[in-house]
Amino acid sequence: MADAFDLVVIGAGPGGYECAIKAAQLGLKVACVEKRDRLGGTCLNIGCIPSKALLHASELFHEAGTSFSDMGIEVSKPKLNLKQMLAFKDEAIDGNTKGIEFLFKKNKIEWVKGEGVIDAPGKVKVGDRVLETKNIVIATGSDVAKLPGVEIDEKTVVSSTGALELGKVPGKLVVVGGGVIGLELGSVWRRLGAEVTVVEFLDNILPGMDGEVVKNFTRTLKKQGFTFKLGTKVTKVEKQKSGLKVSVEPAKGGDTEVLDADVVLVAIGRVAYTEGLGLDKAGVATDKRGRVEVDENFKTNVDGIYALGDCIAGPMLAHKAMEEGVALAERLAGHYGAVNYDAIPGVVYTSPEVASVGKTEEQLKEAGIEYNVGKFPFTANGRAKANKTTDGFVKILADKKTDRVLGVHIIGVNGGEMIAEAVIAMELSASSEDIARICFAHPTMSEAVKEAALAVTGLPIHM
Ligand code: FAD
Ligand code: NAI
Repeated sequence: MADAFDLVVIGAGPGGYECAIKAAQLGLKVACVEKRDRLGGTCLNIGCIPSKALLHASELFHEAGTSFSDMGIEVSKPKLNLKQMLAFKDEAIDGNTKGIEFLFKKNKIEWVKGEGVIDAPGKVKVGDRVLETKNIVIATGSDVAKLPGVEIDEKTVVSSTGALELGKVPGKLVVVGGGVIGLELGSVWRRLGAEVTVVEFLDNILPGMDGEVVKNFTRTLKKQGFTFKLGTKVTKVEKQKSGLKVSVEPAKGGDTEVLDADVVLVAIGRVAYTEGLGLDKAGVATDKRGRVEVDENFKTNVDGIYALGDCIAGPMLAHKAMEEGVALAERLAGHYGAVNYDAIPGVVYTSPEVASVGKTEEQLKEAGIEYNVGKFPFTANGRAKANKTTDGFVKILADKKTDRVLGVHIIGVNGGEMIAEAVIAMELSASSEDIARICFAHPTMSEAVKEAALAVTGLPIHM
């Protein structure tokens, strides 16, 4: 016999699980289909959480070996126990995924284990079982984009998933793609001792980020020992008896150079994942890039079928998927829900962190919007000086006429935490003067945000 639900969510990543929880909180009868043996999707199992656990552990390992003695902490040279570091990461995954299982139970959401196939609007098949439902939400996320001709074996030629599991520190790691994954996981293995070369097709790493920030960040990463081959493409990866040969050439064409590598990490983006979902049979439309097409209410072209998160257009970020999940659940339960796509922060969790929200200078120039810039370096911030974390700056872009904050870009230790202040300001349509007149605790790195706001139209105090 078929089961009847108000909502069946397919995929229990951040978008799917938040949608399920919010819908259940609002009184809907909800099931969530997940084929992985743990809830939490890419983010909790092979993405945000494990990568951050390794970034944290590798950063402490690196600091113990470099800056502890400056503070009068004498330790013998730290020794890496990689097995234990990976176990620490696995514990983080376990704790987080079990947390979602607990929340599902608490909110009486049924986790239907297995692969969900949309049989027809209102019908989801999972094995022999048919779930009948008023609404279906597709939250099936994304998968690694493949580099043509380069086969990922997750041992020596790895995606981010294999790069979270390497059994030993590679002597030479070649990273294909200077995006978020390449720089975060490149940082992990660099700190643990690998020589890291990043091959990026474009002329800059982190395309789309504020140019000035990228320039500063590239310099900092070079100081940390990263080698960059920009405007360069990988044409071949050959497995030899010992190691790999990576052929690269200028993106615009030219002479081939061969790089030696022990491990190659392919991190050239991710693509929407809808394999085996039955979209064709159900008549759900996708765009040229395979993403599910939705309208402003997250509805597909088929009544009763919705989609969100990485499998639709927009930034592939966990918090974007989460916001969409909550907004959609609210709408399905008859309430109001919306996502402000102009105020979605992005953070690169390296050291220092790179964090941004809103428009970059390049985007404002292109749109012909006149703006003022306020900048404040951490070299002039008391807490940063006390902690010796003076790399980077805060930059605020505000509309020339109205002073409304249009974008905030931070490069600095804990930038990922500080950016929340900017997001709140932008959500509340703050002007730079509003921020400048707020009292910030002293001494905090956050004071640089206030000082940058002061710098937009006037003068910062500490410069
Ligand atoms: P996903 O998390 O991909 O979840 C989709 C789920 O659907 C999966 O569990 C899958 O098994 C399941 N599924 C698919 N098809 C079916 C089916 N037919 N039946 C049943 N189940 C199915 N984002 C950030 O914001 N911050 C970060 O720090 C960050 N770090 C990242 C690090 C790495 C290494 C990677 C790879 C990604 C990172 N991301 C980060 C991106 C983030 O993980 C994604 O944006 C986010 O997980 C998308 O959520 P989602 O719910 O749309 O899909
Ligand atoms: P990305 O889109 O961030 O970066 C991919 C990079 O590869 C780009 O710079 C691109 O120009 C380059 N590239 C593309 N094809 C290439 C080629 N053939 N040769 C060389 N370079 C090439 O994608 P990435 O790093 O794989 O991450 C995937 C997604 O995961 C991102 O969209 C990101 O949002 C998300 N993510 C977010 C994190 C965070 O928020 N901290 C952390 C990790 C991932």
